[in-house]
Amino acid sequence: MDLTLKIWRQEGPKAKGKMVDYKVTDISEHMSFLEMIDVLNEQLVAKDIEPVAFDHDCREGICGMCSMYINGEAHGPDRGITTCQLHMRMFNDGDTITIEPFRANAFPIIKDLVVDRTSFERIQQAGGYISAPTSGNTQDANAILIPKHDADEAMDAASCIGCGACVATCKNSSAMLFVSAKVSQFALLPQGKIEAADRVLNMVKQMDTEGFGNCTNTGACEIECPKGISLTNIARLNREFLKANL
Ligand code: SF4
Ligand code: FES
Repeated sequence: MDLTLKIWRQEGPKAKGKMVDYKVTDISEHMSFLEMIDVLNEQLVAKDIEPVAFDHDCREGICGMCSMYINGEAHGPDRGITTCQLHMRMFNDGDTITIEPFRANAFPIIKDLVVDRTSFERIQQAGGYISAPTSGNTQDANAILIPKHDADEAMDAASCIGCGACVATCKNSSAMLFVSAKVSQFALLPQGKIEAADRVLNMVKQMDTEGFGNCTNTGACEIECPKGISLTNIARLNREFLKANL
């Protein structure tokens, strides 16, 4: 396939960015989207042009690094996947593809397609943990029985990879889906009960401090989330928040 790419180029956090057109040739439909950008970058380097900066690590849908807005959708035109899992067979020879960074005030651009998502880390640090003593004998497995339904729901919430697609997709740049997943994974389990009130209050406070917007229940985040994190987690976050305030 030969493609035209319209890519956001920005030299640094303070620089003025702009969309730049590139032609890329010899793209196999079996390549991943990131491999296609690798090919583009090789072709740019051969022409002495600065390669496009983009984030990636695992390239298998685990780390959540490959944040990219492709043709107006976070992680591109497929469902339940990250950009690294997007295949070029989703596109046609001769297509024009628009590629932008995730845009949100709380995700400032570092360079080209790379954004700073450390705001998520600070939210996690505010309460996304349990403090269990690790000295002494290890507790027997299954000593605390957990209903299967709760265990499954906690596991589903814990599958959030912190990619930020929910924020980039939301018209308010709300981080409620992310925060609700991180609160729910503990709220559903007995080990998470002890610090439950402090956790939800501190994480929501940090979310607001970072400048994320409010949730207005459009549901766009759930549709674009590569891990299928459900809006029911946001309802649980609201309940946990109310309980903590009472
Ligand atoms: S809730 Fe979904 S879209 Fe949001 S950070 Fe987690 S995995 Fe990504
Ligand atoms: S590179 Fe890790 S999820 Fe895409």
